[in-house]
Amino acid sequence: MAEAGSFADRVKQQADIVRVIGEYVRLKKSGQNFSGLCPFHQEKTPSFSVSAVKQMYYCFGCGKGGDVFQFVMELEKAPFPEAVRTVAEKCGIAIPKPRERSPEERKENQQRSALVEMHREAAAFFARHLLQTPEGKVAQAYLEDRGLNREAVTRFGLGFAPSAGDALARFLKQKYPDNILEVCGLVGRDPSGRFYDRFRRRIMFPISNEAGKVIAFGGRAMGDDMPKYMNSPETPIYSKSGVLYHLDRAKEALRQSDFAVLVEGYMDAIAVARAGVGNVVASCGTSLAEPQTKLLARFTRRIVVNYDPDTAGQAATERSLVLLLEKEFDVRVLALPGGADPDKFIKEQGVEAYKKLLTQAPAYLDYLIGRARLMDRTTAAGKVAALNFLMPYVQRLPNRLLRSEWATRIASELRVDEPVLRAALRRAADERRSEVKPKAELLTPAVKRAERQLIRMLFEAVEFREKLAHEIASAELHRGLETRQIFEALVVAIASGQKPDAAAVAATLDDKDRRLFFEILFETLPEGTWEDAESCLGFLRHRPVAQELTDLQRQIEANPAAEELKRLVIRRMELLRLLSREREPEPAKILPDQ
Ligand code: UTP
Ligand code: MN
Repeated sequence: MAEAGSFADRVKQQADIVRVIGEYVRLKKSGQNFSGLCPFHQEKTPSFSVSAVKQMYYCFGCGKGGDVFQFVMELEKAPFPEAVRTVAEKCGIAIPKPRERSPEERKENQQRSALVEMHREAAAFFARHLLQTPEGKVAQAYLEDRGLNREAVTRFGLGFAPSAGDALARFLKQKYPDNILEVCGLVGRDPSGRFYDRFRRRIMFPISNEAGKVIAFGGRAMGDDMPKYMNSPETPIYSKSGVLYHLDRAKEALRQSDFAVLVEGYMDAIAVARAGVGNVVASCGTSLAEPQTKLLARFTRRIVVNYDPDTAGQAATERSLVLLLEKEFDVRVLALPGGADPDKFIKEQGVEAYKKLLTQAPAYLDYLIGRARLMDRTTAAGKVAALNFLMPYVQRLPNRLLRSEWATRIASELRVDEPVLRAALRRAADERRSEVKPKAELLTPAVKRAERQLIRMLFEAVEFREKLAHEIASAELHRGLETRQIFEALVVAIASGQKPDAAAVAATLDDKDRRLFFEILFETLPEGTWEDAESCLGFLRHRPVAQELTDLQRQIEANPAAEELKRLVIRRMELLRLLSREREPEPAKILPDQ
């Protein structure tokens, strides 16, 4: 977050959120705010609001909201420092040069830049060899044969590593010192100290980081050479588990569709992207690694896992599922029929057939139940094995209700009715740290209104926000309210003596509270004086009474027996009397003579 006095803070002070967002979204003035079509979800009527006064945005449709930095982070999928720079640039604010902390750090940065530059040149080298040499002609024919024409070759930057043992090494040696060549992963060194090419006679797939810079290669053998694919080793700029192939080109499609298709290999990603499904990424190895799920989560949390339908692919699907569920992804699984991987399937059955299956991909539990059905369930031991296969996934569901629904469903689908097995399922469904769900609030609308108005005042009332925060905190008036966390956060922010910052406060809230907070800030409410604040506080003080009144009313309406009715009505009268006494108006002011 923007710390007071930091460069980010200065940018935030100077930036005009309406202008910045206006570059991405067509905004129209509407009342105090500006509104437009939300860039974060599909909609036909505008529910996206931008407030110039509060320097915030909020979408009443999808709940996304925040300050100018969060907008850029969300839309550009950029980390915070990059968002700050983007906003600064858009607003013409000079960006201070980053200072490098230590000589080692400077050396590492230089090394990384050199490696990135080297990979760019290597990609061009491989592309030249594919397109301009006799050997490359053969490789081109191989690619043609696999359905990749010149257009595809250019689009995905494909190349060819020549078979002469040191063509690339010699090329790179002219430009880079030995210490860089040693760590680049493109060349090796023989015992006599000579550099040789790591990749020979292979089709080269450049692997880019999310910013689109080539940082590694995957090389496919032509024909049956082993290994089929050879990849760059780990280097200072490349870590296999943290990169998704094609992510750099998929960003826009991921944002628009808000889901990803996950495939195994280079050829699959290329085939799927060429089929018009741009939101495809490949894990490039069999299963997904944890850092890859984190990376993807920045773009979308909805995913269709479309691994090869062989045994390795199935195992990889199931391993990946565990990781994805842990990160609360919404996961579907597409297991293509006929044993074909996505590339082969599209070639054989066509684009439309693929897209159709993609939209029909079942939720992961349906897929897993299908797999469990294939197990032998004629014996008790078989049934236990099937259940044991499913239970870990059920346990990973974040929502208890869902877990228990699935437990029931699994019991019926697998036809397990033995009480022991049912109990085991139920236990699996229960075993997860139970989330604390706020009790349903039985509050009168007046209290809700008072809560909202108080939150606004804490945020906006310059003259008395400290006093108000003190009143609320000292008597714990917010205890038990739906909005208690918001009050808590505001009280803490105000205690620091500064004007509360909406984005900073929101950052400390969970998703539901954050939405509520933004909604309240964007409500049209009158400004409110201290008297209004007092009357709102009154509502909170009387909350227990109001609550009991609501309950009484409900009991009275439920048509109880005469005796009980009498008791209820008497109690109601007592409470009403209590309320009216406590709410006595202030002593009448003596008005000057007219
Ligand atoms: P596949 O064997 O399914 O290859 O491996 P593929 O993508 O279908 O390629 P073609 O169609 O046979 O040419 C899937 C992915 O696993 C990695 C590669 O990233 C490959 O794209 N892999 C596979 C390796 O890293 N090394 C290997 O030897 C094989
Ligand atoms: Mn494959």
